[in-house]
Amino acid sequence: MATLELQNVHATVTEEDEMILKGVDLEVSSNEIHALMGPNGSGKSTTAKVIAGHPEYTVTEGDILLHLEEDDFDDIEIPPDKRTWSLLDLDPHERAALGIYLGFQYPVEIEGVTLSNFLRTALNAKLEEREALILDEDEDETDEDEGYESDPRAGPEDEGPVSVEEFHNLLEEKMDLLDMDTSFARRYLNVGFSGGEKKQNEVLQAALLEPAVAVLDEIDSGLDIDRLQDVSDGINALRDEQGTGVLQITHYQRILDYVEPDMVHIMLDGEIVKEGDADLAKDLEEHGYDWVRDQVYGAA
Ligand SMILES: Nc1ncnc2c1ncn2[C@@H]1O[C@H](COP(=O)(O)OP(=O)(O)OP(=O)(O)O)[C@@H](O)[C@H]1O
Ligand SMILES: [Mg+2]
Repeated sequence: MATLELQNVHATVTEEDEMILKGVDLEVSSNEIHALMGPNGSGKSTTAKVIAGHPEYTVTEGDILLHLEEDDFDDIEIPPDKRTWSLLDLDPHERAALGIYLGFQYPVEIEGVTLSNFLRTALNAKLEEREALILDEDEDETDEDEGYESDPRAGPEDEGPVSVEEFHNLLEEKMDLLDMDTSFARRYLNVGFSGGEKKQNEVLQAALLEPAVAVLDEIDSGLDIDRLQDVSDGINALRDEQGTGVLQITHYQRILDYVEPDMVHIMLDGEIVKEGDADLAKDLEEHGYDWVRDQVYGAA
């Protein structure tokens, strides 16, 4: 079981003074679904980006830890001294390799890269990086920025830990799990994907990369009712079939009817001010944020 733990996280926009996150405490473990809710501008997306290591933000106080257990990865045993990581010491791609996945609110489009090629490149890069981190191998002598070893547009060369054939079987399995049409995989990454298809693609990526914790930022925005159901089924499958812990950022109770959270956290002005079970989201829907503000700051 893996646990992501935010301890008193304070963060600013890099090189600015204004504090956006003012002491966030949050814990998400494998097999758990957490909802993070809060008004516009309260710091939810910043929390997600700080977890992923976005350079736009600097953590000025507190820590973000990832706790792993010996058998969390099926390909390598994790030695005792490699089981607790401060993500603040790691680059974004290293965090991803150890099991942090951040889905984007506005995913990019890449012409010329099929979804399938992109996913295989991402998966191989992740597995290689993970092995290097856990086994303490020095990475390639080249000290350039790491990232993809090969150009993701270069086509399906049969190199890397997961071969083309293995990958296609895996992709088929995951697409099946998410009830997606396999023709999707041959399309260019997000190009001409509808809003809903992009969201489904985000869940597919999380299914393939099998992260310890997936952070999904407003994955329910702009989904019609059927697609919301599909995406929700996908999120539940991430947890039920592969034990992924999910931190779901949302404004709406609606998706929580389909993806029932174990815990709901409410953020106001850069802090988590209230927590509860799934009923908290329903109370919030009914009473609004002033109800929370009154409780936290006292009635005006
Ligand atoms: N790069 C930035 N430069 C300046 N201010 C920023 C930056 N990123 C975030 N902020 C500010 O930090 C606050 C929190 O923003 P954030 O995007 O985390 O909110 P949010 O809770 O995700 O809101 P929403 O529900 O609207 O998506 C906002 O006041 C925002 O303007
Ligand atoms: Mg946001």
